[in-house]
Amino acid sequence: MVTRRLLLAASRSQAARRAALAAPAGRAVVERFIAGETREDAVRAVDELIVRGLRVSVDHLGEDTVDQERADAVRDEYTGLLARLGAAGIGGRAEVSVKLSALGSGLGPDGRRAALDRARRVCAAAAAAGTTVTLDMEGHTSTDDTLAAAAELRADHPWVGVVLQSCLRRTEADCRELVHAGSRVRLVKGAYAEPEAVAFRDRGAVDRSYVRCLRLLMEGHGYPMVGTHDPRLIEIAGALAVRAGRAQGSYEFQMLYGIRAEEQRRLSAAGETVRVYVPYGADWYGYFMRRLAERPANLAFFLRALGPG
Ligand code: FDA
Repeated sequence: MVTRRLLLAASRSQAARRAALAAPAGRAVVERFIAGETREDAVRAVDELIVRGLRVSVDHLGEDTVDQERADAVRDEYTGLLARLGAAGIGGRAEVSVKLSALGSGLGPDGRRAALDRARRVCAAAAAAGTTVTLDMEGHTSTDDTLAAAAELRADHPWVGVVLQSCLRRTEADCRELVHAGSRVRLVKGAYAEPEAVAFRDRGAVDRSYVRCLRLLMEGHGYPMVGTHDPRLIEIAGALAVRAGRAQGSYEFQMLYGIRAEEQRRLSAAGETVRVYVPYGADWYGYFMRRLAERPANLAFFLRALGPG
């Protein structure tokens, strides 16, 4: 638990970031979780997954963008990527995931409005490519803004999805608001260190919240996206879907690139829709540190690669 908090703190530290970038062996391990730095790397990973019958959500890595130019560049990267996916005719199977902070939501008093405008452009490009956009969820101070942005975007693009985090005490109530027809909700446990006032800190409580939320989503009229690698929750999701009378394909499983690839294939072979979240880009550090924080085995793997032999 302490290690997890330290790693999450390091994920926001510039000094720790420079140290990790300086370690070439560390970079090699990074490649297990990240498709590469360029758009071509991402497209290659997408193609490989699609050939195996999986679907994809592509994330251009970056968060907490520091200036307007960078935020515009993130928007342009997404629109360029979407044009590429559309031209390849794989829009139906590959969507994108977007963080509002990468689009500049934190940049001054007009940041939220400017990020929403950029997100609108990304959504228009997704519509042209025949695909969808899901808004990632960041720390709890941004939850209201992200949900409000998703609602505004849905006015023009009803397929815009959003992530909810079962670690937050508010999430069951948020789920109730998002069970309408057409609603796309990715339910995850939550990757950020949150204060006890707003979040469950005990793993069991986070899991129980996940099940309560998932039951609401499965019994609702929307399209639940089950974002977890947890074998128990995956099994419960299947059972809840059956109990709610849902056919396969009226919900989907989602997992991260490089994590439980065999399970992704097993579920897909069993007829489930499985989407892999594929991150790419030079700004991989925060994402990578959150993956290390989640699982001691990931951290051990990284440290072994850094050590001699
Ligand atoms: P957890 O990490 O608790 O692991 C539970 C169990 O899963 C383990 O005990 C093990 O059995 C198995 N497992 C996990 N990792 C494994 C591995 N490497 N190998 C083998 N078994 C493993 N978060 C967020 O805050 N905002 C967001 O927008 C998103 N978006 C997102 C998209 C998608 C598609 C996914 C899958 C996840 C996210 N997340 C996220 C991250 C999420 O909040 C969470 O941090 C991770 O998914 C880890 O939690 P798990 O549910 O996988 O369980």
